[in-house]
Amino acid sequence: MPDQRTISVLGLGAMGRALAMTALHGGHRVRVWNRTGGKDIELVAAGADRAATPADAAADADLVIACLLDHASVQAVLEPIAATLSHTALVDLTSTTPEEARQLADWARGHDIAHLDGGIMAVPDMIGGPAAAILYSGDAGTFATARPVLDLFGSAEYLGADPGLAAAHDFALLAAMYAMFAGFAQGAAMLRSAGVSATDFAERAVPWLTAMTRSLPGQALLVDSGDYRTDVQNLHFNKAALDAIVRSAREAETTADVLRPVKALVDEQVADGHGELAFARIVEGLRP
Ligand SMILES: NC(=O)c1ccc[n+]([C@@H]2O[C@H](COP(=O)([O-])OP(=O)(O)OC[C@H]3O[C@@H](n4cnc5c(N)ncnc54)[C@H](OP(=O)(O)O)[C@@H]3O)[C@@H](O)[C@H]2O)c1
Repeated sequence: MPDQRTISVLGLGAMGRALAMTALHGGHRVRVWNRTGGKDIELVAAGADRAATPADAAADADLVIACLLDHASVQAVLEPIAATLSHTALVDLTSTTPEEARQLADWARGHDIAHLDGGIMAVPDMIGGPAAAILYSGDAGTFATARPVLDLFGSAEYLGADPGLAAAHDFALLAAMYAMFAGFAQGAAMLRSAGVSATDFAERAVPWLTAMTRSLPGQALLVDSGDYRTDVQNLHFNKAALDAIVRSAREAETTADVLRPVKALVDEQVADGHGELAFARIVEGLRP
């Protein structure tokens, strides 16, 4: 293989294993390390080299990929091997906050380590498939050099030199996802008391939510312009709708815990005199 590289994967949870296996299938030499033994059996059987320590895994690697639980575990694993990592390229695919990514980038710079942060927009089963996307930010040179490997994992997009950008996008997307999942749970709880299964609800929720996502670009225009004037479904309308949905939750003998913060944001806008404006104005209530 003309461009075979030595890839070190630190952390063999579900995601680290998927990344390591994908790199192996891509024809690279893969060295793997995990804190607890036994997670590398399939990888070693498929041709990966087991490393006894993080330093052994990282030594002379072309690319070191960290995929650990959180920022604290990244620090715990990487800090003792700073000298080994010096002059190598490090891609941190652990989910961290933007500030944590910037801290790691500063630490890496201080040890002559080229650092790229990544936010994985996929679950392990998706890695290596067409639906996986990974967002990157930090050292542009590392992104360019590592690209043939990164492209194996999923579509790779470079967002900019600020190391926190990938994490900021990652967590914004996850915030939207969790709010949607919680909304599904709220609806499922309300329908359960009417004897409707969550399975039936999901069948209706998928096309409904898919259709509703088409309004997001229009809402984004309002947010970006700061001009929230609207001819349709203003905040007065949404307040009446949310009040009725909360009453409906009560009738169904469920709490409205998922809806309450949304209703509070809408109520606040209406109380502040913005009832004629669009729902998207609640974003102003999320400012510090
Ligand atoms: N799974 C997903 O769907 C998904 C999607 C997007 C992003 N991610 C991100 O990818 C990262 C890994 O996720 P995962 O699904 O692989 O998680 P996981 O299965 O829970 O694995 C966590 C890994 O971190 C290691 N670890 C935890 N604390 C450690 C410490 N103090 N020192 C050394 N190693 C430590 C674990 O080692 P042990 O085996 O020894 O415990 C394990 O290898 C996370 O940041 C996650 O948010 C995951």
